[in-house]
Formats: sequence, C-alpha cells, structure tokens
Amino acid sequence: MKKIEDYLARSENQYLKLYDESIKHPEKFWTNIAETFVWKKRWDKVLNFDFDKPEFKWFINGKLNITENCLDRHLSTNPDKTAILFEPNDPNSKSEKISYKQLHSRVCRFANVLKSKNVGKGDRVCIYMPMVPELTVAVLACARIGAVHSVVFAGFSSSALSARINDANCKVLLTADGSYRGSKVIDLISIANDALLECNSIESTIILKRINSNIKLKDNQTWWHDEIAMVSNECEAEEMDSEDMLFILYTSGSTGKPKGMVHTCGGYMIYTAYTFLNVFQYKPNDIYWCTADIGWITGHSYIVYGPLLSGATSVMFEGVPSYPDFSRFWKIVEKHKITHFYTAPTAIRALAKHPVSLVENNDLSSLKVLGSVGEPINEEAWNWYDKNIGKSKCPIVDTWWQTETGGIMLSSLAGVTKDKPTFATVPMIGIQPILLDKDGKEIFENDSEGILAIKFPWPSIARTIYGDHHRYKNVYFSAYPGYYFPGDGALTDINGNFRITGRVDDVVIVSGHNLGTAPIEDAINLHENVVESAVVGYPHDIKGNALRAFVILLNDKLDLDMQKEIKDLISKTIGPIAKPDIIQIVPGLPKTRSGKIMRRILRKIASGEKENFGDISTLLNPEIVDQILLNS
Ligand code: WTA
Repeated sequence: MKKIEDYLARSENQYLKLYDESIKHPEKFWTNIAETFVWKKRWDKVLNFDFDKPEFKWFINGKLNITENCLDRHLSTNPDKTAILFEPNDPNSKSEKISYKQLHSRVCRFANVLKSKNVGKGDRVCIYMPMVPELTVAVLACARIGAVHSVVFAGFSSSALSARINDANCKVLLTADGSYRGSKVIDLISIANDALLECNSIESTIILKRINSNIKLKDNQTWWHDEIAMVSNECEAEEMDSEDMLFILYTSGSTGKPKGMVHTCGGYMIYTAYTFLNVFQYKPNDIYWCTADIGWITGHSYIVYGPLLSGATSVMFEGVPSYPDFSRFWKIVEKHKITHFYTAPTAIRALAKHPVSLVENNDLSSLKVLGSVGEPINEEAWNWYDKNIGKSKCPIVDTWWQTETGGIMLSSLAGVTKDKPTFATVPMIGIQPILLDKDGKEIFENDSEGILAIKFPWPSIARTIYGDHHRYKNVYFSAYPGYYFPGDGALTDINGNFRITGRVDDVVIVSGHNLGTAPIEDAINLHENVVESAVVGYPHDIKGNALRAFVILLNDKLDLDMQKEIKDLISKTIGPIAKPDIIQIVPGLPKTRSGKIMRRILRKIASGEKENFGDISTLLNPEIVDQILLNS
C-alpha cells in the first residue's frame, strides 16, 4: 500500500514539484493520495465536474467508510496511542486520554445506540453538545453507520437550533443536560427543549449527563449512559459511496436563512488528511491542539477528521481562554506539552491585551508550530503571537479556507514554505486560486488586488446546499461563471503570495464567526417599535469586526430598555454572538432610488469617518447622511 508520507512536501522544492504535478495531472495526483487510504471498493473514475450545473464528483463509485480510516486502520499499528486528549473546563478536574482502541470501542457502541433508535444510512442526526469527548464519539458514530451529522454550535439559540433541525429534517437530537463555559453553567437542555417545541421530525433525544442535573426526561428522551449500557461495542462500518453525504454544516449567508453545506465522504476524507499533514507537518509524537469548537468547520476538519485520519493526538478543550484567568491556554500548553497550537486571531488579540507575565510564567518550549484561522490576522497580533508564544522560532501557518471548501486552501506549510505576516501565502497542493477584476477577467500579474476565485475543483469542495441546489449555484458559481467564488477579496505581493483583504459581501466576521447581516436585521425588525434596520460591521480591536445597527423606530425614544429588548431578540433568534456593540437610532437610512440601502456609507460612518463618502448623488435622501452623523 502507498504511504501518504511519500507525498508530503518536506522542502520548498518538494512543494513546488508536488504543486506542479497536482496542477498538470490532477487526477493522477489525487489517485496517489487516495490510494494511501482504505477503500472497500476502488473507484471507476477519479473526477467528473461541471461548473455550470454545478456538479463535482470525486472517486466515482468508490466505496469506503471514513471511520475505518480514522479508527480501525490505526488499531493494528498504534492501538494505545492517545487519539483524543480531553482538557475539561475546570482546571482542577482530571484531563482524559482516550486511545484509538478506546475511541473505536466508544464510537461502535454509540453507533449501535443510534441503530437502536432506527437511525440508518442517509438519516440526519442533529448534534447540539458541549466540547466533550462524547461530541467526537457522536460525530464518528453517525459516520460509522452512514447517518449524516449536522452539528449545531452549542452557543446558538433555540430558534437557530430548531431552524437547522427542521431544514435537514433530523430524526434524532443528541444533546446534554448542560455545559460548562468558564464560570458559567449553560442550561443546554432547556434551549434544546424550547427548540423541540418547533420540531416535528425528531423521534428521539439522547441526553448526555454533563452537569449532573436532576432534570426530568420528557417522552422519547433518554440518558446517554443508560443507552450505551444496553448495546455492544462492535459495529460494522457501513459501506458508503464516495459521493454519499457525510455531513451537513450550516454557515451564514449574506441573505436569508443559513446555508446547510453538504460534504461527502471520499473527497473530504483525503483532502482534510492531506492538508493536515502538509500544513502542520505533524510528526508521530506531536500533541496537536486546535482551540476551535467542533460546531464549526475548523473543528470538523482539524480537530476530528484530519488529525484522526492521520493517527494524531488531538486535544479537545471544553473551556474558554479567560477561565480561571487569561493564562489558561498557556497552562494547557505546558501541562500537555503541546507541539502544535492552532487558534483564531480574535483569541490572540484578546490574550495580547493582558500582561505578558501571564504567558511567561509558563513553559512553552514544547511548541513547534503555530496556526491562525477564521479571519485576517493583523500585523500587530501576528508579531505578538510570533514573539511571545512562538519565541520567534515557530513557523506560523495562516490558513485561509471556508466551511464550503472543507479544508485549508491557502497557507504556508510549517517550516517548509516561508510565512509572511498577514499573508496566507501559497495555495495548497492541488488548488488553483486566481484574482479576478470587477469584470471577471483574470489578473495574471503579481502585486495586484482583486476578487479571489478558484479555477479547478478540489476533492473537499461542498457539493450543494442541503435542499437548495439553486442557491448553491447562485451564491458560488454565478457571479463569475467557470469559477468557484468564495466571497473574499485578496491581493498578491510581488512574489505572488496571497493576502486576504476581507469579505466582499454582507457577511461580517465577528470574533472569527461568520454572521450574515440580513438575519440580524430580520431579528431586529421583529421588535414592534422598529420600522427598519441596517446592520454593518466596523473594525474592532479584539473582535476583528464588531456590529453596529442603525434602527428606524416608530416612536423614536430609545431608552436602555429598548436596547436591551433588541439585543434579547437577537440572542433569542440567532444567539448572543450576533448582538451588535452599538445600536443607533436614525431618522432614516441612506437609500438608492431603487430602494437599496447604501451600506458602503453606513460602514464608513460606523468606522468613524466623518466625510469622504464618495458619490452620494444617487441617493434618494442625501441629507440623511448628515443627520445620521450628527447623532453618532
Ligand atoms: C474568513 C473558517 C483571512 C474568510 C475556516 C472566509 C479568513 C471565512 C481566514 C470563512 C484567514 C478564514 N485569513 N480570512 N486565514 N480564514 N477567513 O466558513 O472571510 O467559518 O471566507 O470557515 O472566514 O469562515 P468559515
């Protein structure tokens, strides 16, 4: 059998050579990578694609089960190696090491629980759980039997949860009685129960006892520990087609309801594993920690699948960087001798605000590689990270990618290709990024700025939006036909390194979380005293971006109660992460003659600009700009 190690780039020259092969002969290249995995049946054809339909199929008619590659495969070579290293919220609680053998057994056992609830191949299972090992078990148990997991971040509200359950028609809900986050205990089950009032498709709910509550179970609800006591720990892995659905994960769109991005088995498997090993240059005894939540794509691809496919030790942390104080991350690095630390710029900026003694009191000498993900990292944060955490000796991989891309698309390879502050730098092997100008023409020169697009399919591209292929085509393939359009702007330096400049649509990234402004406006407009609203992002020291809402009221006395009511509405419909920092009452909104809100102007006002609004002559009501400024 071929070994994936033989296809990893260990020097810049090797990267260039592999990149070249992957572009000239993509099918041959990805065949080599796919052959390093366990398949139940080989594929007939590597790739079929059509950007117009759009349709992407990889390893056609190949059969596999991703959990055999994440678990069973390692049992003959390294059964006792730690797969998951769990660090609980409370620093005084014991951490837990789960070996590949133990994880395999727990996954198979829970897979049998799902089967006992009549869950089979293709059925959707919603997972709304804290960052505890059972979350990983739940995800893999679904994959074991071919059920489609839809993980919903446990910070989302009951309405957000029910909307996602209903969109995917989920049969089973997996949740917990509560969760610990810093000094808070979150009543997860009440949120889940509220959501369930709106959901008809859920036949059973299985509840993990995490906070030892004495809740009373409702009809069709059972305890996790009771369920696993009744089944065996042996479970055959279901045979899946390469193009069968592996999971749905929701991401915000610039308009309307969230998009359920669909990922499939074969392509996602090989791409997440290959990028994990190339980008992080993980070696067998390394301890890798990604601080994301499994509720987001970063957790799916680079806590669960990429690392486990690679036989790595992946750390799961239940808590927050500020509890019990702002040295928690560094204490964990010292405690577990972390070698790889992968986090978000917003966390770095928040930590950099605190005395550096909180870092220096800990031994960080185990660290070899640092990573950044989720939003552009500013130079100051990059330098702080490099100097204080990496001690100027750890490469920093700035990884650009999206829920839709499944895996990392642009990044340096740690210690192999050069990093550069604020630049994601180079394309992954097999990836063909290009800048387009406003007319959609390719810009070939380096040192340019434009709209980022991807020219050729890669194995882990999302295949559709669940239940809405039309929207999939519209959002990603219509603006620039023949390309995948991610919605980000970018520039290149003279050497062709890429730097992401930010979103070019109405998605705002707040503390690394994608938020569409439209659903927030919809939530605000639910208030009986609101006529209309517009939400925009503006630069924020720590969060990267914060939100400011401009609100027209029916009766324009905005007291604090009203501010609170609006914020509560947003928390209830979306979740606390979507609350604006500033709510400003305005007499009107700047609108074009066709009635479109000119957000460009609001973004400038929110960023503190007092003049230079460009051409506002096309506004129906140019005088409104001064009126808004007067009160801001
Ligand atoms: C942004 C997160 C700059 C970008 C993996 C993208 C980044 C969106 C970076 C996807 C980065 C992600 N530098 N911007 N290294 N990584 N982004 O779906 O705007 O939660 O389109 O996936 O985050 O966010 P998502």
